[in-house]
Formats: sequence, C-alpha cells, structure tokens
Amino acid sequence: MKDVLTIALPKGRVLRAVAPLFARAGADAAALLADDRSLVRESPSAGLRFLLLKPDDVPTYVEYGAADLGVCGRDVLLERPSDIYQPLDLGVGLCRMVVAGLVGKAPPAGVPRVGTKYPRCAAEHFARRGVQAEVIFLQGSVELAPLVGLSDLIVDLVETGATLAQNGLEEREEVARVSSVLVVNRAAYKLRNDRVRPLIEALRPPPPAPAADRGVRGDAGA
Ligand code: PRP
Repeated sequence: MKDVLTIALPKGRVLRAVAPLFARAGADAAALLADDRSLVRESPSAGLRFLLLKPDDVPTYVEYGAADLGVCGRDVLLERPSDIYQPLDLGVGLCRMVVAGLVGKAPPAGVPRVGTKYPRCAAEHFARRGVQAEVIFLQGSVELAPLVGLSDLIVDLVETGATLAQNGLEEREEVARVSSVLVVNRAAYKLRNDRVRPLIEALRPPPPAPAADRGVRGDAGA
C-alpha cells in the first residue's frame, strides 16, 4: 500500500476547479466533491488524503506539517507570508485584487478609509503609491462598506466584476493578479520527494496546444 500524502484544499469554488487536476493524479474526484460535511476525503488507491479547510487556513496546515501539500490563492500568501515552498501555479482560480470605490465618486480630500479582508496588501499598496490611507479590517461582504459610509474605498478580489457592478462600485487600481498555487511543506518536499515530485508533475498544467490544433491555420494551410 502507498504511504499517504495529505493535501489541504480550500472549500468552495477553488475546490471545484482543482478536483479535476487531482483526478489526473489518480484522486477520486467524486469523493472530493461529495456534497456532505466530512472534512477528510480519502482516495486510498492514489495514496492521497484531502483536508477541506477555510482558504486562509491552508498555509498554516502545510507550514506546520499537518498537511504535506496544499492549494491556496496567491492573495492568501501575499497577505500572510508563510515558510512553505510554492513550486507550481495551477492556472485556476484566476482573479484580481483591486481598489474600488463608488461609481463616479471622487476620492475624499483627506485620508481615505479603506475596507478590506487584506489589511497588509492594502497598506503596502497605498504605501507604495505614497498615499496615506486608514485601513479597516473586515471579514467579508466588503463591497457593503462604501455603500453605508464605513469606508471610501475597498481592496477586494474581482473575478467576473458582478459584485462590484451590482453594488454601484467601480475598479480604480489593480493591486495584484491572483491564481491558485500549489504549496508544499519544506520537510515533506525533501523527505518525501519520491511522492511529492510525481504529484507536482501530474498537476502541472498541460502546455498550450500548437496553433494548428486550436483550429488556427497559417498561410501554408489555406
Ligand atoms: C469574493 C470577493 C468578491 C467576489 C468577487 O467574495 O471577495 O466579493 O467574490 O467575485 P465577482 O467579481 O465574480 O463578483 P466571496 O464570494 O468569496 O464572499 P465574501 O464577500 O464573503 O468574501
């Protein structure tokens, strides 16, 4: 029997995006996506065990060795740098961290207040631009803050832009591009390399298809 690798995954949309990638590595995608409350999902034939976590907790489980590997957003790693390897961008979970404000509303004359789940990223962004800002930490539904006068601006993730648009907000600046990253515990990377390496390779996104395979014809093919 294979010794088991433990992998920390974020619950929610990213789980649905990464399940097919782990299926390529032999995991049971149906077990991974089963609609129940179990927090540990086993794929014994692949020698994999998955822990389903709040996204912010993934680096903690990996750094302390409770999981050998994990998947988390670059936003989480930017906000709370951790002592873990980041060998692979998985090319899923694509979104952007942006500054946004009420449509058509000019910035205040004084120090703007900024509501965000990402106080460190927000503070660093405004400091880089030489702008003084008061950062207010919020846990979620950040788009509400400017609507009720809690903040002038927000720093939050945008994927489709629907949440901004439906709350009368517009993007002002980009803070960072975000995608899902494979992270690995440093000791596991060294001591279990025979298991970790092949898994990294199985998860590596395939290279883009050549132009001809994508239905793009060159002059010679016309
Ligand atoms: C995320 C993010 C935005 C929204 C962006 O929130 O914080 O609010 O998704 O997606 P969109 O551009 O496709 O509308 P999430 O749904 O994770 O909930 P939260 O607001 O409680 O953090």
